Amino acid sequence: MKITVKRVRDGYGSNWLCDNVEVGHSLKALPPSGVFTSRPTSRDFLLIAGGSGITPVMSIAKSALAAGDGDVVLFYANRNDSSVIFSNELNELAAKYPDRLTVVHWLESVQGIPTVTQLKNVLRLFSSYDAYVCGPAPFMAAALTALDQLGFPRERKHHERFISLESNPFDIEDALAEPDSPELSTEEITSAAAQSPPRTFRVQGQVAGAPFDHDDWAPDQMLLDFLLSKKLSAPFSCRAGECSSCMFRVVEGSVTMLHNDVLDDEDLDDGFRLACQSVPESEELTISYDF
Ligand code: FES
Repeated sequence: MKITVKRVRDGYGSNWLCDNVEVGHSLKALPPSGVFTSRPTSRDFLLIAGGSGITPVMSIAKSALAAGDGDVVLFYANRNDSSVIFSNELNELAAKYPDRLTVVHWLESVQGIPTVTQLKNVLRLFSSYDAYVCGPAPFMAAALTALDQLGFPRERKHHERFISLESNPFDIEDALAEPDSPELSTEEITSAAAQSPPRTFRVQGQVAGAPFDHDDWAPDQMLLDFLLSKKLSAPFSCRAGECSSCMFRVVEGSVTMLHNDVLDDEDLDDGFRLACQSVPESEELTISYDF
């Protein structure tokens, strides 16, 4: 087990890890989660990585090679040859799997930033493979456009976005601050309570194999907070709408999302929402974490 950390200017997590963690320290971590994985492994994989976007892609490559029997093609773009993360490990893998792994390096210092047309010219050779994309936003946009134009269907096109946290997770005062809420006078509160009894919503589904059905979800409570308050092991990480670890699918009903930096239009059309940013909209909601 290992993690890869690339120091990012002003990054909260990467700088803390690089500056503080030493051999012998213990860190508490959430378990791996998400759907950017190599399942099923019995496929041919087209992996498209830019810079540090190689980190999840490398895991997929190794899993696919170890557990599957298909081809693995890695298109890997970097600024120059000294910025290639995992170059030794990739050489070793290529030597170990000469018939199954092909690594195509693209160096900006030599070839420039890859355009959609250039990407299409390479990727079209593998149009029946399952594609996985991870990298900086402009690189991902070009790669996803190339895949779209080559006719890759939704179910064979996967991508992972990484976004830095916007607020400082080490700032305890910030983290404990009460969310802003409009101030109401005692009179307003009393008359509001008299007019409208507390309203709650019903939500049902399954989390980690545990079925649930509750009807006391408050209108201003995030779905993730509600599920956790019921001792359900709903997945999450950033709690800020920036990582998609808490993603679920709406089976019936609807929610309102307050913030979303990760799900794109296709995800939303497929019914995916972020539990850490969802408040109730319909009277009843059925959700699934099985996708
Ligand atoms: S936990 Fe990160 S988006 Fe919800």
